[in-house]
Amino acid sequence: MRLTPEEQGMLAGEQGRATQRAMEIIVTLGHIYEAERLLDVSSVQVAGVSYRNLGEAGLEFLRDWAAEGARVRVPTTLNPAGMDLVRWQHMGISQEYARKQLETIEVYAAMGIQPTCTCAPYLVGNVPGYGKHIAWSESSAVVYANSVLGARTNREGGPSALAAAICGRTAEYGLHCDANRRATLRVEVRCAVCGLDEYAALGYLVGRDVGGGVPYFVGLSMAPLDAGSADVPQEGTSQDALRTHDALKLLGAALASSGAVALYHVQGVTPEACIEGVRPGVDLCPCGIPRLVIESLEPAITALNASVESIDLVVIGCPHASLEELRQVATLITARSPRGQRLVSDLWVTMPRQVREQGEALGLVQVIEEAGGQVIADGCVVVAPMQELPYHTLATNSAKMASYALPHAGLQVRFGSLERCINAAVTGCWPTHQP
Ligand code: F3S
Repeated sequence: MRLTPEEQGMLAGEQGRATQRAMEIIVTLGHIYEAERLLDVSSVQVAGVSYRNLGEAGLEFLRDWAAEGARVRVPTTLNPAGMDLVRWQHMGISQEYARKQLETIEVYAAMGIQPTCTCAPYLVGNVPGYGKHIAWSESSAVVYANSVLGARTNREGGPSALAAAICGRTAEYGLHCDANRRATLRVEVRCAVCGLDEYAALGYLVGRDVGGGVPYFVGLSMAPLDAGSADVPQEGTSQDALRTHDALKLLGAALASSGAVALYHVQGVTPEACIEGVRPGVDLCPCGIPRLVIESLEPAITALNASVESIDLVVIGCPHASLEELRQVATLITARSPRGQRLVSDLWVTMPRQVREQGEALGLVQVIEEAGGQVIADGCVVVAPMQELPYHTLATNSAKMASYALPHAGLQVRFGSLERCINAAVTGCWPTHQP
């Protein structure tokens, strides 16, 4: 592998032990994947934040690196923690856990990392441009960055992403290279796919089939991303375009959890399937690759639903909810639960803190809280210390949450539309036979 003189100096320790340690990780990965050189990265997303997953050993590792002088040199954001950093007591989190979780965030912040605590950093300003090389961890964020923003990243682990942030480099292999961004599976969708849960169900089915490959979807009827822009929705973005962003978010998260997908294309929608000079059906999705026909989403619905009727907790916002999703939840609660009537199940809507603040300014958070629901910033059920909490069953419209809730949080799951989830929060149950 060719290193520049500056990179050789970093590896030799000229910029301190912390940078040297980061370079050792990046260069080792480069050797393993036979990269020829390193690339500058313009942004990083670091996972490995929940103290439940890190434990004392992980926190000690971070403390050591910070004490050696580790500081990030590119804009770097942070994945969700195991709790709302401010309102953790409302979630029933113990003081002992909260103390360790807050210390973890402090260590990351001391390295210069923005304590955004979200798996949707693109909703809070970490929006890498088209074609930019980045180093992101968190599988749902990775697949969104590659597919919807057109940036370039591999599925980094927490330590390799942190190392990339500290030395500002990543090795050139995998999805940083054009050749690996071509489709490996053509997916022909022949059934209606409308609600967010249906995009999630589709992602779950295709992820199981494609593994770590690159699916190319045809037959999906979606509004285009704004005027061909690969950016996140801005004020004034049409409702249809907002729904496309949210649908792609849930589709990608499911693809990345039932499979190991880090990039997908949707004909006529995602940026690489739209760019001039590329013939999407020819260059990006070459003839002769395997084909998968989806006639029904039913197999996903069956696989993701346990036979439980009583629901303790409803979770919306996996990946973290956008303002538009928050608005939909508030609208459904207003319609289904008249003022003053409390929800029967607990309801958690998880999102970035900035989105919570926007929702508060619009009165959306208040609608949910007055009904007894919680609008949780910074946190995620899958990495929260759920064993400390009194929940056994969960309902969600996210296929990723549905797949992870049992193995990671010990919860039996119901999966379905946002409407069914809010109904479950209002009534406390998930009727087996729904009209
Ligand atoms: Fe995000 Fe947690 Fe879901 S990290 S994608 S809310 S499992």
